[in-house]
Amino acid sequence: MEIRNLSVEDLQALMRLEREVFAAEAWSESGMLSEITAAHSYYIGAVEGELVGYAGLRISPLDHSADVQTIAVAQQARGSGLGRRLMEQLLAKAKSAGSEQVFLEVKSSNDVAISLYKSLGFEQIDVRKRYYQPSGEDALVMRLKIRQPIVLGIESTCDETGVGIVQGNRLLANALNSSMDLHAKYGGVVPEVAARAHLEAIGPTLDAALDEAGISLDSVDAISVANGPGLAGALMVGIGAAKGLAVATGKPIYAVNHLVGHVGADVLERGSVELPTIALLVSGGHTSLLLVRDLLDDVELLGETIDDAAGEAFDKVARVLDLPYPGGPQIDKLATEGNPSAIRFPRGLTLPKDLERNKYNFSFSGLKTAVARHVEKHQDAGEEFNAADVAASFREAVVDVLLTKALWACEEFGVPRLLLGGGVVANARLREEAERRCAERGVELRIPRFSLCTDNGAMIAALGSQLVMAGREPSAISFGAESTLPVTVVQTP
Ligand code: KG4
Ligand code: ZN
Repeated sequence: MEIRNLSVEDLQALMRLEREVFAAEAWSESGMLSEITAAHSYYIGAVEGELVGYAGLRISPLDHSADVQTIAVAQQARGSGLGRRLMEQLLAKAKSAGSEQVFLEVKSSNDVAISLYKSLGFEQIDVRKRYYQPSGEDALVMRLKIRQPIVLGIESTCDETGVGIVQGNRLLANALNSSMDLHAKYGGVVPEVAARAHLEAIGPTLDAALDEAGISLDSVDAISVANGPGLAGALMVGIGAAKGLAVATGKPIYAVNHLVGHVGADVLERGSVELPTIALLVSGGHTSLLLVRDLLDDVELLGETIDDAAGEAFDKVARVLDLPYPGGPQIDKLATEGNPSAIRFPRGLTLPKDLERNKYNFSFSGLKTAVARHVEKHQDAGEEFNAADVAASFREAVVDVLLTKALWACEEFGVPRLLLGGGVVANARLREEAERRCAERGVELRIPRFSLCTDNGAMIAALGSQLVMAGREPSAISFGAESTLPVTVVQTP
């Protein structure tokens, strides 16, 4: 006997069994169709020549709960333990989806089913009088509580020391210590300075996270850590700390991909990441466009920057304009007073000749140079120039190119969803244009709250938690820092 996921193609077989088992109380065909095609619904069937049993679950990510919608076993297959197998599979699904409780209704006279559910850990919590029609029989409401794993995640890929704690899909703590101020006098992140700062910050940040979550290290079930991509020296500090904790406490450790962590952050907002999605990750260290079909198993890099990261371009242009580091917020502010169409700065890698090989790659060094030239030209001639216009026109060029490419990807891959991550997401114009362009094209836009967009430990914990809930094996303790870890490696084995 095979148990597999059901789809619209199984509708007729489902209806035959539905009518056989539930007779007058059977769902209508249209009701069944909307059930199996609904968002977050999970229908499985047991097939032995024909369909001999099925069960359905509806997950409510925002409530961290799930409902068993139906379960049916054909007359000839009863007494074989099939009902239990189907239920166990639904519960495994609920568990991996982050549900903290599972509800079901059962006829008050159905002793066999009630004892099965009790044996699986369900408890009766309510009675619904005359729930079943036309029989008028009462329903017992039963609930199973699931204790989801607590995962502590460490992030140290760049200049943010982050320690986050999640339980299942729920955020418990997101402690952060940034060394950004230390880099200000250099106008950019200095790797050695960042690594040293991580070393000093990691202990206090860990304490702060445990404090915020109100738990002790004992209650943590697993440790996760970003082992790349990022700055090698910075990564090593986080990895060393994570390994130390894992070895000292005997807890399993998961080495996860920093970039995929940015995508996973959205589970902490909505209880799930809606998939497939295009993800545009823009920060001081990376500019990447991803196609995510499955968070744990199918992440594809469509393109990335071939030179500067988007945030780095903001920081460098800020220097040209004599603005302090980090430049993004400064330029963003100055740009509000300028005219975005005053100067037509280049949009890197968008010419027809670029589209064959670099359709989804980015380049900002030409833009940065164009801004520098523009400023120098005026300075050399002893002319005044309008810095606000330069800032606005530069910002417009970056935003235009980022969103144009992201939306090309949505269109080409038929993905009606765009998720943004990284510090540059703070940019007011990027947010405004993303909203406008996505609405125009019917693309759903997701921007997690800012503290989950910038580098943080919670997203690393969230990704670790997805791996634990899915029953994945921990990483071997021998993993190392991988500065150029590809996005296809969600977890280093
Ligand atoms: O993700 P993030 O906090 O950290 C790392 O990259 O490590 O991103 C920081 C980057 C900086 O380059 C900063 O200039 C940029 O994000 N940024 C912005 C804005 N706020 C921060 N860029 C454009 N507009 C902003 N409002
Ligand atoms: Zn990042």
